[in-house]
Amino acid sequence: MITDESVREVIDSARIEDVVGDFVNLRRRGNNYSGLCPFHNEKTPSFNVNPARNIYKCFGCGVGGDPVKFLMELEQLSFPDAIRWIAAKYNLQLEEREVSPEVREELQERDSLIITNDFARSYFGDQLHRTEEGKSIGLSYFKQRGFLRETMDTFGLGYAPAARDGLLRAATAAGHKEEQLEKLGLIRNGRDFFYDRVMFTIHNLAGKPIAFAGRVLRKDVKAPKYVNSPESEIYHKSDVLYGMHQARQAVRKLDNVYMVEGYTDVISLHQNGVKNVVATSGTSLTTGQAKLVKRFTENVTLLYDGDKAGIKAALRGVDVLLTADLNVRVVVLPEGQDPDSYMQAVGSTKFEEYLEEQRKDFLFFKADLLLEEAGEDVSRRTAAIRDIGATLALVEDPLKRAAYLQQFSGRLGIQEQLLVNLVNKAIADRRAQSRKDQEREARRRQRSDRQAPHPPTSPTPSEEDDWDNLREPGWVNETDEPAEPVAMTAPVDEPATASDAEMDLGHGYQEKFLLYLLVQHGHKSYDDATSTSVATYLTANVADLLGDFDRPRYREIVHLVMAHLREHGRPPDASWYGSHPDADVRKLAVEAVTSPYTYSPNWQLKYGLRLSQKAPEENHRLAAEIFLRIFRMEKIERKCKENAAEISRLEVAGDLAKLRTHLRVQMKLDEMRMALAKELGTVVLSR
Ligand code: UTP
Ligand code: MN
Repeated sequence: MITDESVREVIDSARIEDVVGDFVNLRRRGNNYSGLCPFHNEKTPSFNVNPARNIYKCFGCGVGGDPVKFLMELEQLSFPDAIRWIAAKYNLQLEEREVSPEVREELQERDSLIITNDFARSYFGDQLHRTEEGKSIGLSYFKQRGFLRETMDTFGLGYAPAARDGLLRAATAAGHKEEQLEKLGLIRNGRDFFYDRVMFTIHNLAGKPIAFAGRVLRKDVKAPKYVNSPESEIYHKSDVLYGMHQARQAVRKLDNVYMVEGYTDVISLHQNGVKNVVATSGTSLTTGQAKLVKRFTENVTLLYDGDKAGIKAALRGVDVLLTADLNVRVVVLPEGQDPDSYMQAVGSTKFEEYLEEQRKDFLFFKADLLLEEAGEDVSRRTAAIRDIGATLALVEDPLKRAAYLQQFSGRLGIQEQLLVNLVNKAIADRRAQSRKDQEREARRRQRSDRQAPHPPTSPTPSEEDDWDNLREPGWVNETDEPAEPVAMTAPVDEPATASDAEMDLGHGYQEKFLLYLLVQHGHKSYDDATSTSVATYLTANVADLLGDFDRPRYREIVHLVMAHLREHGRPPDASWYGSHPDADVRKLAVEAVTSPYTYSPNWQLKYGLRLSQKAPEENHRLAAEIFLRIFRMEKIERKCKENAAEISRLEVAGDLAKLRTHLRVQMKLDEMRMALAKELGTVVLSR
């Protein structure tokens, strides 16, 4: 144990800007520093360091504290380990009190279990490097696999000899209790649990040994290839990813983690310079593991063997990652290779090139795979599409989901609306399920409350909860409720008309919105230099599309505005609309100032609009620009679809002359679409 005096000295010496500076690029800003917050993803710095007060604070996610807290939270260190870290940084000598048997008993159960495991780790290490048996069997095996000494130390590799009493005797002689050894699964029925195997240490985030895995070397034995430590107070399998401790810095820095299956894959990749790699240890992914990853990155690349089993494995458990809002990509290795063998075969440069080239978005990977398997079989295709819809529904971020929807409808060759319906259905099902689960949980709680005479004291939020709250501000996601279904319907106040089907796309609504903009901002300046008004800007940019308006009334009103501009050389003002002889214009004038600013919900999803327009007076230029781009995009996309349908019809009819015209139109429309998409930053399907 570190003495109190030492702890004090360390705390007094630690400078917040030094400690943070080891992890974050800091820029001076007056007396303070700022940088990109290491606790949440951000593009503009909201993480601040105040040397005078020796604290850090993120205005984005709210974290804050002193140097020790920074280390504990960022590096997941215990308090003593954070103190040790700082001491090492400043070359401070720590006074540590000898751990007496009595003190050991006083120590937390967890700590003592870790101490015992640490003993086992060094025991296995010694056996590997210092005994004849270990060297000739274990060490030669690792060497033959290409592992260097440094790598063996980094990953705590070792050897468990064939005799079944070595660890028990050595550990008890060193003062470790048999009971502890049993709790850790190191001893079973009075004998060593691990024997005649090469050993892999499983570390927690802070690098402490929490469990072991042993691999058989003999091919003839019937025993399983790997045996693993059982769950214990310090080892919760479902919250651990093998290699996370060794990978975490690279993961954070590269903002991506490779997930492989095997221990040896992690070790081999790490040794060859691909350090952002962890293993799922051959089981399905859990929510705990997804959460763990999310502390370091939102980007996961699954790396699987190029055989059927490997590919099937890639599909399994991915739901968990998607639900956690991680971006998942997949790389399938060449047939017959696993990450380790492929790395050994081609070397790191080729290896990384291959990953770069081959990685595919998981949702597309899955869709392609399922559809390929289904072939032309209609019922299997339907099942595949339904499956993909259900997977899409797991994507929580509505913007991301909308982008997928758009691209998928192209890939699957089905209408976006159909896919949207499928996804909405899946979301609704999930919601119903989650509501049922919640109700069941509530009933269960009620029952147990009745049984307990006193209500349980409110639980203190665990560390896990704290991490959950680390979200970008404004990113509302407070409950576990599945996401809102995709809205594809127009506002309810819209009058029902013959073209209601089109209201799905909200064209009528948007035409009205154009008029709102004209009433509210038309008379303002769009560009001072050329004295262009907002009305001129808007009308000039919709002129070519007036024929595509769904509502003739709205088109007529735009014509009225254009006529005014022509005749008077300036835009009409609010009173012109308000006192217009046409009742519809007057009605619009009132609505424009009383209706809240809302773009179509469909637009918000499709284009990532998040303009609440709190101060439209100042934002009218931006509002007009964004509106126009999307307005044009929607109209042009629809024209594209109609024209494409016409092309197919003409192909069948064999009308070549007309066909040629329509193909030219299609090219022109595609160009326009691409240009607009570029401005909007959205993805367009090639048709
Ligand atoms: P693999 O059979 O692919 O093993 O299992 P590997 O790690 O590549 O080992 P080598 O290269 O043959 O030496 C993948 C992972 O599945 C888990 C382990 O985590 C292993 O790393 N596993 C496998 C077990 O836990 N038990 C087993 O019996 C087999
Ligand atoms: Mn392997």
